[in-house]
Amino acid sequence: MSFRIIGTGRAHPEYVLTNDKLSEFLDTDDEWITTRTGISTRYIATDETLTGIGTLAGKRAIEKAGIKPTDLDLIICSTIRAEYACPSMACLVQREIGADCPAYDINAACTGFLYALEMADAFIASGKAQNVLVICAELMSRHLDWADRATCVLFGDGAGAAVLQKGDGLKSIRVTAKGDDELLVVGNPFCDSPFYTGPERAPEVYMNGGEVFKFAVGAILKDVRHVMKQAGVKQEDVKMMVPHQANDRIIDFARQKLGFREDQVASGIDHWGNTSSASIPLLLDELIEEGRIKTGDLLVMTAFGGGLTTGACVIEL
Ligand code: UT7
Repeated sequence: MSFRIIGTGRAHPEYVLTNDKLSEFLDTDDEWITTRTGISTRYIATDETLTGIGTLAGKRAIEKAGIKPTDLDLIICSTIRAEYACPSMACLVQREIGADCPAYDINAACTGFLYALEMADAFIASGKAQNVLVICAELMSRHLDWADRATCVLFGDGAGAAVLQKGDGLKSIRVTAKGDDELLVVGNPFCDSPFYTGPERAPEVYMNGGEVFKFAVGAILKDVRHVMKQAGVKQEDVKMMVPHQANDRIIDFARQKLGFREDQVASGIDHWGNTSSASIPLLLDELIEEGRIKTGDLLVMTAFGGGLTTGACVIEL
């Protein structure tokens, strides 16, 4: 395995949306949201842009890594939807940070960070890149049906980034896909064509919460067991599991089945909500800043989401 994480960064919009504020225009309340999901507040964009928060997270990661933007050999951005179909978010970020390397977007929904790590691993292992910047940025608030209490209370906006450099931190990684457009769909980005004769599709997030919940728990168990076995790692060797932040109940259920202690599992969903692919890298940056994880610690990351996609890895910080 080919790289170490040498710097992380995060950024988010200023506005903090509370559960009480949501209950002013939705038939919901703080108690339902906190007990069913663990979410108390989330950041929601007002005038911030996807490229803006992505760039800020990227710049902070580069600064912490102690490299120059021109040292980067590749930029991979993960987002459910960039500001434009073209140019990609990665190209705009490349300009903003002053890099001169190739740059492209990927979309693996909430599993985007793991997919980006897998790609970066291939680039670095093959010798095509030494330094790769991964940025996961999402403005989920711009895709939601704000009248649908079953989905709009769950998501938040944010960006997380990591600089990866040739090294031996990554111990094992696995990503999967199982095509499905029934359980979790973020709406149709196409404009109306006068020639289109297919069915109408809603432009917002649709999710079968209960089924996604079951899928998520199953995926975490399967993927985490797989990568831990591949890396030859036991529960007691792991400093922290950093899971995609979709629901505290999913995480806790999986934690118990996997045999991790409560203090071995990271959670930031209370103040982030579900930020899709940004959730792992921004939590990673927060944990490092708070001194809860440090160089040499062994981490397990795991994610699942639309696609359907899943992924997990074992990595030494
Ligand atoms: O990152 C992408 C992947 N996404 C996920 O992993 C999400 C996975 N799913 C979940 O996290 C959970 O299924 C949800 C949080 C989405 C829903 O929790 P649940 O315990 O599965 O609730 P439910 O959908 O079964 O709904 C229970 C009740 C329903 O009312 P009735 O039919 O029992 O009368 C809902 O209408 O809760 C109602 N409900 C709400 N009530 C107050 C749904 N949303 C709300 C709400 N406030 N916001």
